[in-house]
Amino acid sequence: MPSIATSVEAVPRSRIRELAEIAMSMDGVLRLYFGESNLPTPEYIKQAAIRAMQDGFTFYTENAGLPSTRRAIAAHYRAFHGVELDPASEIVVTASGVQALNLGIRCTLDPGDDGLVLTPAWPNGSSSIMMANASVRQIPQPLCGERYRIDFDALEAAITPRTRMLLYTSPSNPLGWVATDDEQQGLLDFARRHDLWLIADEVYDRLYYAGARLGDPVPSILRKATREDSVIVIHSFSKSYCMTGWRLGWMVARRDAIAKATQLNEFVVSHAPTFTQKAGETALAEGESELLRMLERLKENRDLCLEALRGIPGVTVPKPDGAFYLFPCVDGLTDSFEFCRRLLMETRVGLAPGVAFGEGGEGSFRICYAADRSILEPAMERLTRFLR
Ligand SMILES: Cc1ncc(COP(=O)(O)O)c(C=O)c1O
Repeated sequence: MPSIATSVEAVPRSRIRELAEIAMSMDGVLRLYFGESNLPTPEYIKQAAIRAMQDGFTFYTENAGLPSTRRAIAAHYRAFHGVELDPASEIVVTASGVQALNLGIRCTLDPGDDGLVLTPAWPNGSSSIMMANASVRQIPQPLCGERYRIDFDALEAAITPRTRMLLYTSPSNPLGWVATDDEQQGLLDFARRHDLWLIADEVYDRLYYAGARLGDPVPSILRKATREDSVIVIHSFSKSYCMTGWRLGWMVARRDAIAKATQLNEFVVSHAPTFTQKAGETALAEGESELLRMLERLKENRDLCLEALRGIPGVTVPKPDGAFYLFPCVDGLTDSFEFCRRLLMETRVGLAPGVAFGEGGEGSFRICYAADRSILEPAMERLTRFLR
């Protein structure tokens, strides 16, 4: 009997999913392990999808996505980042952020190449690199006082003749860390110096609490990079518009990468669903007030969780500037999966174990605070009691 290809056998299971599967077999669990808000998709977006279906947006589209959707994404970059993009050649619409990430990785790595990943990070980047038959080199972000940083010395030391790409996520899942202007410039300079592709996962850029005004996005790397730079930006409708189940995202990149990703799309999903793309256009055009309301609520939730955790001896929890996660580190914790499993069994609170996020993640756990207060408050109360 033929066996499963060894290259895919080597791709590890998601340890967030492993914990979630135990939780899903239980009743009454307060679920904070997945990276999604429990708010439903706003009504105006659902109505836009229904209208699009009624208007006949049920056929195949271009591999790069509907021209109108790409124009809407370009308008979004012009409005929020002052960046001009050519919708015809610099944007591809994808069936989710993770599919954009997968395409970006496939376009940049040959089998046997090395990809660098700043961690702790959402595990899908490293797993996608392995699915491309390339090697992952994870570079942990050290916590210095109140802030995570980038270890540029470790990045330099990790370069091999096969290193072709560096992936980072800002705002970070799970750290909530946001790259500063200097750090972004440092990453871009590093990539230019070593002739690497720089993949920036910016799916949380609208969930930012440290801008001049709530609602200001984290400045995109596209503001610094030229359109000739080897830079790929990954994005998604999931987080900003509560559209996780819709599977809609996009990629912005140098023209040759977009041309290739567009072609590859044909063989993966052909294109993102047609009426979903139309609903995404409406989200971009009309989503600001709803997004602001969500941000206000998220910021309050973040502060509630920080306050609850900060008084606990042996728990360090930096204040995150973006995304919707806290990543507390517990002194002496060496098995975060077992910690989360016990927490689940004894208190019915479901969190994600730090070990799921790669190098630098063990010893911590991730809380997704994008939950309703009726879930978050009892969850924090049980968690703090358990920790004490
Ligand atoms: C850092 C990061 N990138 C990309 C994604 C992908 O989002 P989606 O595939 O739902 O668009 C996620 C989802 O959790 C994420 O956390």
